[in-house]
Amino acid sequence: MSSKRATILGIESSCDDCSAAIVDVDFESANWARVRGLSTFSQVQIHNPYGGVVPEIASRSHLEEIHQEVWNALSAAELLGPGVSLLQAMERVDAIAVTNRPGLVGSLLVGVTVAKTIAYLFKKPLVGVHHIEGHLMSPYLDQETVSSKIFPQILLMVSGGHTQLHWIERPPLEWPEDFLVSSRLGRSLDDAAGEAFDKTAKLLGFPYPGGKFLEEASVGGNPHAFALPRSKPKNDLDFSFSGFKTAANLLIQAQTKNATLEKNRADLAASIQEAIIEALVDRLEIAVERHSPKSLCIVGGVAANKSLRAKIQSRWSLPLLVPTTKYCTDNAAMIALAGGNRFCQGKRLSFEESLSLSAIPYPEI
Ligand code: KG4
Ligand code: ZN
Repeated sequence: MSSKRATILGIESSCDDCSAAIVDVDFESANWARVRGLSTFSQVQIHNPYGGVVPEIASRSHLEEIHQEVWNALSAAELLGPGVSLLQAMERVDAIAVTNRPGLVGSLLVGVTVAKTIAYLFKKPLVGVHHIEGHLMSPYLDQETVSSKIFPQILLMVSGGHTQLHWIERPPLEWPEDFLVSSRLGRSLDDAAGEAFDKTAKLLGFPYPGGKFLEEASVGGNPHAFALPRSKPKNDLDFSFSGFKTAANLLIQAQTKNATLEKNRADLAASIQEAIIEALVDRLEIAVERHSPKSLCIVGGVAANKSLRAKIQSRWSLPLLVPTTKYCTDNAAMIALAGGNRFCQGKRLSFEESLSLSAIPYPEI
């Protein structure tokens, strides 16, 4: 077996998505990662009445669901089936990758404990994965071809919890241990772009998480109908959304008071979306001019936003990598691939080390 090839069982439970996947990783082939089975239980409906994720409820739900997700992923990958035992199925898995940082501690603990138990029972190497590193690998899942010619690249990470710019100089197999910190060009000083979408969507009356509802409501609206501030922090590659959020809050309150919210809903949604996207693209522009990348990449839940993709595509003629929509939001396939990358680098825990792998809610990097 080549050291650049492995079959990985990935587990993700850092927030409100309970997910397991089987991914064939092969950095010598034209398509680096084939997702053979992915099963995700989304807790959105459970948290919906509370307007956000309730940590205690999240961890209990993970506890109830996670075994089924692992079973589903093994079955979808056809490793498990009639007449095949779990032991036989696990013989075809080379390693277990689990998100062990950062996230909600109770939720992380469920995934980490299950992964450790599977690793212990079936004597498999275990790899702890940083959730953001998973997102960084998501564009390479199920692509027909991937070429190292896309590097160096500028990557915009836009999720519910993180907004960051990264300079991806080399292919993943060459990423050092401290890659997430050493490659980072800038980050949000307060809220993430996803939070800015979700909090303003909530003010407009949409369920959590509201990003996609806000996008839907913006269709046909005038993005320049309402003026909203675009913060420009001192470090010109950092982001800030707190001023924008306050301004959006005041604007929506005024519209509610004047009973004009319903009439202006599409214009409000379009203006809010435009302000968030412009704040992102403005920073991306500075990074592109400064570093001259060969390609651009957007990852994370907000990368599903069509206006964001369209704006970046129309501004630059550089190739733009975006994960398939189902891999933009949290999923175990990206964790399996990120763990597979580290596994292929030889960075796997010894048996004793894997038993003491911790769930680390912080530090966020
Ligand atoms: O990456 P993700 O699934 O979870 C975290 O790791 O945080 O991202 C979730 C975020 C939420 O804030 C959600 O509202 C946002 O991604 N999102 C969107 C869209 N789809 C998901 N934001 C804007 N437009 C969308 N179409
Ligand atoms: Zn995420």
